Amino acid sequence: MRILSGIQPSGKLHIGNYLGMIRPMVQAQAEGELFCFIADLHSLTSLFDGARMRENINDALADLIALGIDPDKSYVYVQSDVPEVTELTWYLNCVTPIALLQRCHSYKDKVARNIPASNGLFSYPVLMAADILMYSANVVPVGQDQKQHVEVTRDIAIKFNQIYGEILTIPEPRIKEELAVIPGTDGQKMSKSYGNTIDIFAPEKELKKTVMSIVTDSTPVEAPKNPEHSSVYLLYRLFAPHEKAQEMATRMYAGGYGYGDAKKELFSMLMEYFRPYREKREKLAADTGYLDEVRKKGAEKARGVGMQLLEKVRVAVGVRG
Ligand code: ADP
Ligand code: TRP
Repeated sequence: MRILSGIQPSGKLHIGNYLGMIRPMVQAQAEGELFCFIADLHSLTSLFDGARMRENINDALADLIALGIDPDKSYVYVQSDVPEVTELTWYLNCVTPIALLQRCHSYKDKVARNIPASNGLFSYPVLMAADILMYSANVVPVGQDQKQHVEVTRDIAIKFNQIYGEILTIPEPRIKEELAVIPGTDGQKMSKSYGNTIDIFAPEKELKKTVMSIVTDSTPVEAPKNPEHSSVYLLYRLFAPHEKAQEMATRMYAGGYGYGDAKKELFSMLMEYFRPYREKREKLAADTGYLDEVRKKGAEKARGVGMQLLEKVRVAVGVRG
């Protein structure tokens, strides 16, 4: 089985990204072949600063490896290092009905958030389809917001196969319900664009400040609280061992336990959980030679697989004999 997912290098990685797609990818390495890539071409729809783009790509690569994506075992690469994905995008564009793209929420949401309404942003799901189809992925682990894009990918692949024969593999999205929408510090979906993120590799002080700023209701310390209604508890539960999460829930129900106490525990849990990854991240930052090598090897490995599919597509559409 092939499992594939990508992440845009558009800013610092947060714990929503981690729980929604990075950890599922790390776990998927035990299950099949993992393709994990940095979607820099997608980021060009919203990031227009070359120097920052370069920095973000390098950071994302180091982050993913530090968090447990193994470049020896898996395919770890930068999307633009296999530029032929844009060729496949074109073949797919030519069988994609405009109406399919017009239905995508993500385009409308992004334009509403002042991201320029470019042709690139509009046709973004077709490039995403090419990312998935080029490597014949079976399963795509993503958060809820990307589900529609995987459905569009399926529709495009079905249409292509109807015209040209059974060439493309139809992928399935994989979304874990309890991880589909991780709340941010304001209780809304955690997202870089909402400024409500808890960043995985934030310096300790900053992390503490962010966790302490999580918005809570005004139930007084003495009063009992429903843990299920508290994003502090909901986040804690996703990182803490089961018994510890139970303990926090019991204390909340009992009363006499304030949100401030719960936030301190959440902060300590995050520090403990990510400590080994932080250490690895620091070592990687100091070894740019290693990261360059990973990037080069990753591109070669991915290209080897992707080109086989692309050759078949070229023949099917008739641009090669
Ligand atoms: P952001 O919304 O911060 O810009 P991205 O769109 O880059 O995040 O998302 C990268 C991946 O992380 C996607 O698979 C997305 O579904 C997942 N993801 C992002 N935010 C969350 C969240 N709050 N909960 C669950 N998954 C998320
Ligand atoms: N669109 C995804 C996001 O914003 C990133 C992405 C690009 C992706 N290509 C993909 C995810 C292919 C899964 C599969 O998060």
